[in-house]
Amino acid sequence: MTRTYIRDFHGDDLDQIVRLWGQVTRENEWPIYSLAEVIASCQQDHAVVAVQGDVLVGAAVGRAAHAQGWIVFFGIAAADGSSDVSASPLHALERRMAPLGLAKLSILIPEEDGLDAFTGNGFEVHHSVRYLERDMPIQRREIESLKEVGGRILPPHLWDRVAGMSHEKSLLKERLVTPLARPELAERFGVVPPRAVMLFGPPGTGKTTFARAVASRLDWPFVELFPSRLADGGTGLAGALRASFETIDELEHAVVFIDEVEEIASRRGGTPPSPTQGVTNELLKLVADFRDREGRILICATNFIRALDAAFLRHGRFDYVIPIGLPDAEARRAIWARYIPSESAVGVDLDRLVAASDGLTPADIEFAARRASQEALARALREGDEASALTTDDYARALGGTRATVSAAEIDEFQADIETLARL
Ligand SMILES: Nc1ncnc2c1ncn2[C@@H]1O[C@H](COP(=O)(O)OP(=O)(O)OP(=O)(O)O)[C@@H](O)[C@H]1O
Ligand SMILES: [Mg+2]
Repeated sequence: MTRTYIRDFHGDDLDQIVRLWGQVTRENEWPIYSLAEVIASCQQDHAVVAVQGDVLVGAAVGRAAHAQGWIVFFGIAAADGSSDVSASPLHALERRMAPLGLAKLSILIPEEDGLDAFTGNGFEVHHSVRYLERDMPIQRREIESLKEVGGRILPPHLWDRVAGMSHEKSLLKERLVTPLARPELAERFGVVPPRAVMLFGPPGTGKTTFARAVASRLDWPFVELFPSRLADGGTGLAGALRASFETIDELEHAVVFIDEVEEIASRRGGTPPSPTQGVTNELLKLVADFRDREGRILICATNFIRALDAAFLRHGRFDYVIPIGLPDAEARRAIWARYIPSESAVGVDLDRLVAASDGLTPADIEFAARRASQEALARALREGDEASALTTDDYARALGGTRATVSAAEIDEFQADIETLARL
């Protein structure tokens, strides 16, 4: 029988390490350290191999993290599993890492794997632990691109913080979030995940809030493009837009958001042609290209859907054209609750305020709430009663002095737009 030698890893062993890794990591059980991590550790950390002649029959690879070492790979070729080859790379690795002064050497292994090689080498099994991992939403190679376009990962709870609006929420969940987050499920039902959607509705109704919530829910980076800022670049707006989309193309995932898109996508034509005509043409091309790749979505928002160039809303560019209306009662309740100080909350008739603020935008409600607070503070100072609380009447009075941002005529227009332009 050929003798087994233990020696340090060298670059020529890489192919055989890859083969061994494929052999010992079984299907359906995921390796805790990926092959890429194992290779990185072979090259940069500590690795020993067992060889018979030219054939690599075992390997142990480790890395040190402060005083704790981790074995990122340990494998013995199947034919040698029972022989005394099995423990020797482990032992050799431990000797190689000894000068680092480690207090502990640890390994995570699949549940069904044998333990003998480890327990025979002084390792102790801890049954009380469970292994958890999270796929990080941004990979290292994406960091630069993300920075360039000002993208970032949003906190995880934004979706749940959108109060009420259950109709809009379930629509966005069914049409956008689920097909994008679970493409296999979508495919099973023949649903094609959307690539671009348009949100429209009166000002301040939550279009930006929803776009951010979708990104948060998907755990994808949120990249907002500001046409007004892009224009400063020198290459012109069209060139700057193109450059941004090229950078975004380098990201694995992204929710790209363009607010007030009517500014750069308004109706073309007219003499002389409007200065944004070239930009509109460019954006149309960019949207078409953007549709070619999966793992990303473009969300555009507008207050003036009627002003958009017709080519924009044609089938094949935007998968859905979704109206976002004024906040419903539940949303208004949540918005009120956000602004009423907790000391005053018990004494305020929230139902009355919710009813009285029907037709107002979140921003209108915020305005009324702040107004009531200011007046109440002024009164408390005037009357020397700093312990007083805000009352329902304070809020009702402030509401009386608040003009609705969205007029009745605008609401009618919005309804008409829903009839003619919405695509769900
Ligand atoms: N359903 C909701 N629940 C809680 N807060 C909300 C909700 N919808 C909107 N808001 C709040 O209302 C404010 C305005 O919302 P947002 O900026 O998303 O509106 P918008 O439609 O993008 O407005 P604009 O048309 O002016 O761009 C934000 O402060 C947001 O947090
Ligand atoms: Mg907005």
